Amino acid sequence: MSFPGVQNVTVQGISGTGALRIGSTFLSKFFPGPKTVWLPAPTWGNHVPIFKHVNMDVQQYRYYDPKTCGFDYNGALEDIRNIPENSLIMLHACAHNPTGVDPKDEHWDELSKVIKQRKLLPFFDMAYQGFASGDVAKDAYAVRKFLDDGHNICLSQSFSKNMGLYGERAGAFSIICGDKDEAARVLSQVKILIRPLYSNPPLHGSRIVATILNTPELHSIWLNDVKGMADRIISMRSKLKDNLEKEGSVRNWSHITEQIGMFCFTGMTPQQVEKLTKDHSVYLTKDGRISVAGIASTNVDYLAHAMHQVTK
Ligand SMILES: Cc1ncc(COP(=O)(O)O)c(C=O)c1O
Repeated sequence: MSFPGVQNVTVQGISGTGALRIGSTFLSKFFPGPKTVWLPAPTWGNHVPIFKHVNMDVQQYRYYDPKTCGFDYNGALEDIRNIPENSLIMLHACAHNPTGVDPKDEHWDELSKVIKQRKLLPFFDMAYQGFASGDVAKDAYAVRKFLDDGHNICLSQSFSKNMGLYGERAGAFSIICGDKDEAARVLSQVKILIRPLYSNPPLHGSRIVATILNTPELHSIWLNDVKGMADRIISMRSKLKDNLEKEGSVRNWSHITEQIGMFCFTGMTPQQVEKLTKDHSVYLTKDGRISVAGIASTNVDYLAHAMHQVTK
């Protein structure tokens, strides 16, 4: 896939978080529009302090619909249509954290149109490429579509999850510029910001990433590994849903298999979550989010039983 006219500036970040910090610092200084970022509701908890640290105002657009445990497509479109022109909007590229709810491809197509009409700058956070579908190219659909539609996007990437490099802090920040000259000026400013932040990024993790991505044999092993991880998560979702039905639960748990990626927003209330922890020693965040990566064939029966006990 090629994107004519695309001129990207890419710098290494201290993983995804560091990439977001570079992006937010750069935008707080140079973004000509309102110093407000629009985040999905809910979003990854760290997005808020990251933008507040650079004195940006934080607003939210509708994203998750608690009634369906799915994407609030109409609500999101309506809110985005009302965002002031030339603002900054944050989008999770795939495997949304914390909800596990992603827009479908046709939703992204429409979002791209509306975001273009509103002249918004899209900032994609891609922390889980490969974790949604098991295919890193499929999971890049939104980013590629926006580039195809001529958006000048910002992008933060993390290799913590899809390469298992949590401790190495390997990531990247990219910004698409209008032409080579603009790219040179942006890169020079980004370097000026990074220098007093941490001077230089660590080498080891990024060399692992570069070696894997640039060695055809290692690259195909990695793609297989990513697919293996995603498939295991998908199979645990099915097992959990099936077991809840076997337990006799009459609730609709279809969102467990409809949601994707590492996280599942179960729809359990804070009281049910508390009971799950107190009576069954199952630990999860109060908003009802479970990490599906933590479910295994050895504990999925127990989990389904416990979830049924607190939700029946
Ligand atoms: C949505 C999102 N963005 C960014 C990150 C940053 O990840 P890291 O700094 O570990 O690469 C995370 C990690 O949990 C995340 O969930």
